[in-house]
Amino acid sequence: MQTDFLVIGSGIAGLTFALDARAYGRVTVITKKESNETNTNYAQGGIAAAISPSDSIESHIKDTLLAGEGLCNPDAVKIMATDASHRIAKLSEMGVEFTKSHKSEFDLGKEGGHSARRIIHTKDRTGEAIETVLIKEVHKNGIDLLEHCLAIDLIIEDGKCIGVWGFDTNRNEFFPFLAKSVIIATGGIGSIYLHTTNPGIATGDGIAMAYRAGVPVANMEFIQFHPTSFYGKKINGRAFLLSEALRGEGGILKTKDGCAFMEKYDSRKELAPRDIVARAVHSELKEKGDDYVLLDITGFGARKIIDKFPNIYKHCCDLGVDPTKEPIPVVPAAHYVCGGIVVDMKGKTNIPGLYATGEAVCTGVHGANRLASNSLLESVVFAHRVDKSMVKDSKIEKLKIEDLENSMQSTNSKLTDKSSNHLEEKVISDYLLQIKNLMWEQVGIVRNNKELQEAKNKISKYKSEIEELYHKYIEIAYKSPLRQAIATFQLIELRNVVTVASLVIECALIRKESRGLHFNLNYPEKDELQYKKRDTILKKLDK
Ligand code: FAD
Ligand code: SIN
Repeated sequence: MQTDFLVIGSGIAGLTFALDARAYGRVTVITKKESNETNTNYAQGGIAAAISPSDSIESHIKDTLLAGEGLCNPDAVKIMATDASHRIAKLSEMGVEFTKSHKSEFDLGKEGGHSARRIIHTKDRTGEAIETVLIKEVHKNGIDLLEHCLAIDLIIEDGKCIGVWGFDTNRNEFFPFLAKSVIIATGGIGSIYLHTTNPGIATGDGIAMAYRAGVPVANMEFIQFHPTSFYGKKINGRAFLLSEALRGEGGILKTKDGCAFMEKYDSRKELAPRDIVARAVHSELKEKGDDYVLLDITGFGARKIIDKFPNIYKHCCDLGVDPTKEPIPVVPAAHYVCGGIVVDMKGKTNIPGLYATGEAVCTGVHGANRLASNSLLESVVFAHRVDKSMVKDSKIEKLKIEDLENSMQSTNSKLTDKSSNHLEEKVISDYLLQIKNLMWEQVGIVRNNKELQEAKNKISKYKSEIEELYHKYIEIAYKSPLRQAIATFQLIELRNVVTVASLVIECALIRKESRGLHFNLNYPEKDELQYKKRDTILKKLDK
């Protein structure tokens, strides 16, 4: 298979790029599950843009820089805030129905850290509204969108990215896919944590793939924990999110015994940036020994809740809590990664032919902490900017299939014992659970050196065991029609999960200070001298 642009991922970033790139050549999008199984599809609160007459681009920039605590790239922030209104206009033009106020202007919501009302939304289903329209447009424009195709690794030839190795779960087949240009848009890494708002797809595949290929990865220690996810029951393993927009409208955080507590932590109370609110919830839980705190929105009145937040109302009721009558039990959950693949302002990596965009990258927009609703915005703005002109002069490499097979298989003949061809799914799920637990317990909201070091040791042990299992199984599975499709898929993901977990820990150990989303009890203060302008960058050393 071959194409001009091969896009990995069908969220807002991948699809935005695909729609723009079709004018420059043939575009193919591959996605590992159903097209709409993306973080994008679950986004609730909205997308930020300074469009109110009482707001300004400068103010959006200022708020973003403030939240980022000295680590944002000011040029990237300026690009994002300045382009916001154009991207919103384009999405509206394509058919995204953002909620309007009575004067048929956008109804602007408020979220933490924003000094003005600037959140454009489709009630509390903003992501779904965007994702649905983008998928429709992609089909309308004749772009190939291949579901259940999992990218495994990049194919690098003479230092250039010329395609990817993939696995088609439906057909139970491996495939090489050659392209003039490969664009990673694989989203975030929430699924490396036990409790996360992210769907299961968020296993950091693109970040792991890029890292293995020698692309630098930055700022992985900055994991954003959303302060309010539903406590207890999950939906398909995902903790249901209670949007920050609820606090924007006056939702109050209380301990189980009914006391509001945010005033103790920040004068902005419930609307302080997320790192502060998540740490406050964490601290209350520790202090009281409680399992959850409460988010009280009963003061809104039933009508406002049902009308403005129908998705949240329905899900809470399904999960056994009527939010119009009683406060919602909530806990923090892993939500977003501010770091990722290092790219320039046009999505370019250090490998010719390889680009990346969306949550998988580090443009420097978010610095040490992301402001609410700046992620959809970053994705749509920077996906639009990814360089497309380069395919003009590129050619698709013609490679012999044997050469590709060699690059896929590491020739470790010791491991080709046919008797070990069976892969226990339980082995994979046990590893996954251990990693998720470890990350939650020891690399969570509040960290310390001892636990980080312990986590590092355990993860590096798991990593070598999983790598061995991976090579042992994949080498055989590659040639055997008897391979197990689901287990193969899960093992490929597991290898990425352990890789990305190790990158988070590595970065967390390097940053010997507390800043934004990274809080280490051994260094509770910021170290402005050493770290203010310092990204934590990791690059694989060739063995
Ligand atoms: P995604 O939308 O996650 O898409 C990634 C795609 O890559 C998926 O199609 C996935 O299947 C595919 N993929 C991954 N690995 C592979 C592979 N190996 N092979 C093939 N395909 C692969 N941000 C905001 O700004 N505002 C909000 O209101 C908001 N609310 C949120 C609510 C929730 C519950 C969550 C989870 C996130 C929210 N966010 C919000 C964050 C935001 O949704 C994401 O950061 C953003 O959607 C990321 O877009 P993306 O295109 O980079 O990745
Ligand atoms: C939310 O609705 O609280 C999520 C917003 C975001 O992650 O930006």
